[in-house]
Amino acid sequence: MSARKLCMIPGPIEFHEDVLAAMGTPATSHVDPNFIPILGESIEMVRKVILSEVAQPFITSGSGTLGWDMMVNLIEQGDEVLLLNTGYFGENLADCLTTYGAKVTQLRAPAGSRPSADELKAALAEKKYKMVTVTHVDTSTGVLSDIKKVAEIVKATSPETLVVVDGVCSVGSEEIRFDEWNLDIVITGSQKGLGVPPGLSIVIASPYAIKVFQERKTPIPAYYSNWNKWLPVMQAYEARKPAYFATPAVQLVYALHASLKKITSEPMQVRFDKHRQVASDFRKTVKDLGLKQVAQCEECSANGMTAIWLPEGVEVAKLVPALANKGVQIAGGILKDIATKYFRIGHMGISVMEDERQHIPKVVDALTSSLTELGYKSA
Ligand SMILES: Cc1ncc(COP(=O)(O)O)c(C=O)c1O
Repeated sequence: MSARKLCMIPGPIEFHEDVLAAMGTPATSHVDPNFIPILGESIEMVRKVILSEVAQPFITSGSGTLGWDMMVNLIEQGDEVLLLNTGYFGENLADCLTTYGAKVTQLRAPAGSRPSADELKAALAEKKYKMVTVTHVDTSTGVLSDIKKVAEIVKATSPETLVVVDGVCSVGSEEIRFDEWNLDIVITGSQKGLGVPPGLSIVIASPYAIKVFQERKTPIPAYYSNWNKWLPVMQAYEARKPAYFATPAVQLVYALHASLKKITSEPMQVRFDKHRQVASDFRKTVKDLGLKQVAQCEECSANGMTAIWLPEGVEVAKLVPALANKGVQIAGGILKDIATKYFRIGHMGISVMEDERQHIPKVVDALTSSLTELGYKSA
């Protein structure tokens, strides 16, 4: 077996030792008085991460995709959904919502860009939508959407329309002001900006989204992801009472608690600013190497990851193993049509917040020397 590599893909990210230690919590009942506040406090801390006083978090076992499935609680047959597509994950979210009977209209942008405010306004003028979805960071392109602006436009045109944010690659690394920006849903997973091993799905719903769910006309065609099952469980744990619908991933919740305690121990703004600074420095390094990133503008570039075009003559099938040989794992491309033409590097969580770990310099060194080995000469 080869040595473990530094995991610098856009999630799963590197995990803090305290988080890994929490994963090793000995067997504990999910209704044990020691565990109840761990889940209860985690629910409260999730609210702090997205700067909300009023939202309802759902913490369940599954990956980020389970959060997409949970939209079955808000969608009824034939509901119109407008989906702002900035890459692979927008494409798949459309597929998921269609499965539950939504009629999805997609507003697409060329790879590396995002639909404009005017395009969004024009689409909203054409039809009444039950829901508008936006991928905050599409992990396939590294494109950052302006979710504040999207919500502002949607709510100004149609206050009843739900604003749903796929924050799988943004919660914990990008600024999200849930209440102030008038968001209705933020979906995430444990393994990216929250710095916890994969396995938890986290969905955060506004009081308005909960009302839409409670007032729906037709039964929810789902069992495990049905909020009628989960809402009382989340409320019970927050009230420090035991409840059961399906067994929580006890050790993962301990790990989440450990990570959220660290994340919320300083103002979220500090974390947002640090991710912005490191991302901006990283983009400058990429540019100085003579490389171009996929995201086409500074303000539409993610702060937790970067997608970079391969230089002429360098193949992804050689670059990724070259870095792996130096102990650094990066990711290839995944967006259809351009997948073999670019690569992706994650810069989130402890790799960003704890300079002393030297993760970013390590990835930059490994990238620079691997490119040289593969014959690339920066201009
Ligand atoms: C933006 C985005 N949405 C959804 C998902 C799906 O999450 P998961 O792989 O945890 O199911 C991912 C995964 O990388 C993602 O990056």
